[in-house]
Amino acid sequence: MHTSQEQLEAEYRVSWELVQRAGFQAMNCGYLRTAGRSFHRYQQDLVWRLLEQTPIGPESVVLDVGCGIGGPTGWVLERFRPGLTVGVEYLGSAVRMAEQLWSGRSPRPHFVQADAQRLPLKTAGVDVILNCESALHYRDKHTFLRECHRVLKPCGHLCLGDITTRSPRVWALLTRYARPRVYLWSAKQYLAAFSAAGFELLDHEEASARVAAALRAGAREISTADFPDVPDIRRRASFLRVLEFLLHRRVLTYDLFTVRAH
Ligand SMILES: C[S@@+](CC[C@H](N)C(=O)[O-])C[C@H]1O[C@@H](n2cnc3c(N)ncnc32)[C@H](O)[C@@H]1O
Repeated sequence: MHTSQEQLEAEYRVSWELVQRAGFQAMNCGYLRTAGRSFHRYQQDLVWRLLEQTPIGPESVVLDVGCGIGGPTGWVLERFRPGLTVGVEYLGSAVRMAEQLWSGRSPRPHFVQADAQRLPLKTAGVDVILNCESALHYRDKHTFLRECHRVLKPCGHLCLGDITTRSPRVWALLTRYARPRVYLWSAKQYLAAFSAAGFELLDHEEASARVAAALRAGAREISTADFPDVPDIRRRASFLRVLEFLLHRRVLTYDLFTVRAH
């Protein structure tokens, strides 16, 4: 296995255990639109917000790139019933968990292990790409965006949500020795790169406040729950609190984009 896969897998293992134990189905930060709901609902609301401007019908082909353990991929299938729903994920263990999550359901999504920067799909066959909080891991986001443009049909939509920073260079310096590396872009970099890759902007929200509020609720839910058999649970709840603080202070930001392929 490639080293960076091992590092990424080690990083995500704690989250997977927690997710399985707590009955969560996603790995994203969530989006608080209406207070008083569960973290699970906030994670779903992030996906619904991302897809808000995007028509999905019975003939649509939907790709969820960086799908993690596959919750959002299956939610999209259950809600919109597209003709084909495929989750693409770098880590084999996550693909297996995704398959397990939806096994026995009919219809169910398909899952493929692949790198977002080299999508194993034919040109111009996809209507919608969902990319939720995964691109922060991609070293070469330009290649990823070109790949999205290649596999999308003309006028196909890319719905991308990601943690961003207003100071990518400072962030790169700060995290130089972090494992696994996280490669954050600014919203400005995303906007320029969408245009360079042949996309037109349909919608953009700087959603840091709503995402921070969802994380606050998530950290509270996790820390008050009783999961004695999940190791490192406190570390995970603290991680969510730190992320919430950084978003609240705008040290980090969170941007949601919908773009259309020319
Ligand atoms: C924070 S999780 C989000 C998962 C999912 N989108 C969700 O909303 O629950 C990020 C996911 O991106 C995956 N990932 C990282 N690098 C990737 C790559 N190069 N290609 C595909 N997936 C990747 C990670 O393994 C992880 O499962």
